Amino acid sequence: MTNPLIGTSWKMNLTASEADGWFRAFVPLVADLTDRELFVLPPFTAIWVARERLRGSSIAWGAQDVHPDDSGAHTGDVSAPMLADLGCRYVEVGHSERRRDHGETPTLIGAKLRAILRWGMTPLLCVGETAEAPVEVAAPLVLADLEACLASLPAPDVGRIVVAYEPAWAIGVGAIAAPAARVGAVQRLLADSLLGRAEGRPPRILYGGSVDEAAAGRLLAEPGVDGLFVGRYALDPERFARIARAGLGPPPEPGHAVGRDNVEGRAR
Ligand code: PGA
Repeated sequence: MTNPLIGTSWKMNLTASEADGWFRAFVPLVADLTDRELFVLPPFTAIWVARERLRGSSIAWGAQDVHPDDSGAHTGDVSAPMLADLGCRYVEVGHSERRRDHGETPTLIGAKLRAILRWGMTPLLCVGETAEAPVEVAAPLVLADLEACLASLPAPDVGRIVVAYEPAWAIGVGAIAAPAARVGAVQRLLADSLLGRAEGRPPRILYGGSVDEAAAGRLLAEPGVDGLFVGRYALDPERFARIARAGLGPPPEPGHAVGRDNVEGRAR
């Protein structure tokens, strides 16, 4: 069993200065956590702040998008080597908001996956159905999307990605997280399909879409859910720390020896 992987994309939120405050608040709150893998995807403009504040900690950082080419005449875009140079471990692709706002297709998403892998980073591929539907209707749509995005990837590379199942109808203000049993059913189907496609270790599958503290515990308890991808509820560092701890005991008292040692150890 691997530890749950729990991350956040801030989307287009938090300036670099605000990011600095977020990291200063968040890092000590999770310094004692050893059985969760955590990551943060700030906007491009705050990745350098993540590098400053997270260096030496076990929390990874990354980006929310990438251009498929390594360099060239692409005004305003950011390439994989630029992100790798900033120490990014994860790069998100295929989020429903990018597909909606920028018309991203599975072919383009596949090219981005290859760029991320070329530079030794881990792609976080978002897939999910658009409209709410029963599992037997939604699952084939999600599987077809996954297959289309992965079509150009050699089998050994499929095992190097992380998948986030994100039903678009469960994302954003006014939505609530999809029920855990439903998420588990879809994710187990995705896992079966990926197992056949990936050589070696199959990708981990996270759930994303209106994850708050209450939903986090239920989702992590569901077989097939390997972790969580959190949006708006992680913009408050205290809430994200509570989500990161979902299903675990209470945090140690301030000044507790374990927490203090970890903070000092990671600051070196
Ligand atoms: P949300 O975003 O938690 O604000 O719904 C989740 C996502 O888009 O991954």
